[in-house]
Amino acid sequence: MVDPRTYNIVLLPGDGVGPEVTAAAKAVLQCIGDFYGHRFDFSEHLIGGAGIDAVGDPLPPETTEACLAADAVLLGAVGGPKWDGGPRRPEEGLLAIRKAMGLFANLRPLQVSPVLAHRSPLKKEIVEGVDLIVFRELTGGVYFGDKGRKDDGSAYDVCAYSVEEIERIARAGFRTALQRRGKVTSVDKANVMETSRLWREVVTRIHAEEFPQVELKHALVDSMAMHLIQKPRDYDVILTENMFGDILSDEISVLGGSIGLLPSASLGSGGPGLFEPIHGSAPDIAGHDLANPAGAILSAAMLLRHGLGLDDEASSIEAAVAAVLAAGATTADLGGDLGTRGAADAIIDAIRAIHWAAAHRVQMHWG
Ligand code: NAD
Ligand code: IPM
Ligand code: MN
Repeated sequence: MVDPRTYNIVLLPGDGVGPEVTAAAKAVLQCIGDFYGHRFDFSEHLIGGAGIDAVGDPLPPETTEACLAADAVLLGAVGGPKWDGGPRRPEEGLLAIRKAMGLFANLRPLQVSPVLAHRSPLKKEIVEGVDLIVFRELTGGVYFGDKGRKDDGSAYDVCAYSVEEIERIARAGFRTALQRRGKVTSVDKANVMETSRLWREVVTRIHAEEFPQVELKHALVDSMAMHLIQKPRDYDVILTENMFGDILSDEISVLGGSIGLLPSASLGSGGPGLFEPIHGSAPDIAGHDLANPAGAILSAAMLLRHGLGLDDEASSIEAAVAAVLAAGATTADLGGDLGTRGAADAIIDAIRAIHWAAAHRVQMHWG
């Protein structure tokens, strides 16, 4: 037998529910490795509050080194009230690792499962069939501009974007639109912000020069926040800057029933990607086996697809998550009674069942 290929996966569990959902995603990856004959070598490293507590640094240098040398990185979450007001913030570590790895494109897909459409506070007929992806610029804008306090007691955060920073995320969004329904909505605040006027100019030019076959619309972020609730099915690729993408993606998570379901991939140009659920450390439920692990597990699927080029393996995780949700085997955020580990086990069982059915050419019926 050929030796299984070994992939070096760095795990950054972080804080709050981070370790719980990362352990769940790791177990799913191990199961996939067994079925497909891959070896995943996992190594855990410190980030966020866990790094501050252990070594006084939210991103110890050895964590950065390990991430840069990995085939892919899977992150849980960082932050929590424990570190509020301290000299270092856990979030610093996350921003610094995104920058150090050059991860300028953050992909946040959302498909509303028909069986969960009733879980959304919005009407079923509005959210059913939603299938969109946010392309969030991740290493620029107000997150990374000069910031500080002045002697007069005031504070400032500078928002800056270079032409190149906008070009590369725009190309990534347009390329993806070509493989989807061919529509990009670029979101900005061009009626107020100079960076947004540059954003609109550059996106318009890249579209005209390189992707004329894609349908491009521009939207202002305030009314976009409204349209995403009124007619979310209209959207395909949503292309936007760092802070708007952060806010809009939490907003749209409500359409799918729970923020605990949404995965993300952060990619650069070459080099390893970083994969993480879009939710945070959820301090209100941390440590109680309540967190929904699906966002982390679907992030592991994105890791396989976008990070390692293992499409079939990724699809088998996605099919298992869909099957388990359809069967109503969920955590409390979706009205179920499973814990984090129980939900992960249900997904692992579904992967086994799907493989067994494929091997025996049996049609599975769920729900
Ligand atoms: P949050 O996403 O942690 O939680 C918001 C709400 O969603 C909470 O009620 C929480 O219980 C619920 N929730 C989140 N994840 C869930 C899951 N997997 N299953 C079920 N319910 C879930 O946002 P917050 O409370 O505003 O932030 C808490 C901390 O997390 C802050 O320190 C923030 O900076 C940090 N944060 C980190 C990341 C990250 O590491 N990528 C992302 C967002 C927020
Ligand atoms: C996210 C988070 C982070 C962000 C924070 C924790 C720095 O909200 O990944 O969505 O704002 O990017
Ligand atoms: Mn966020």
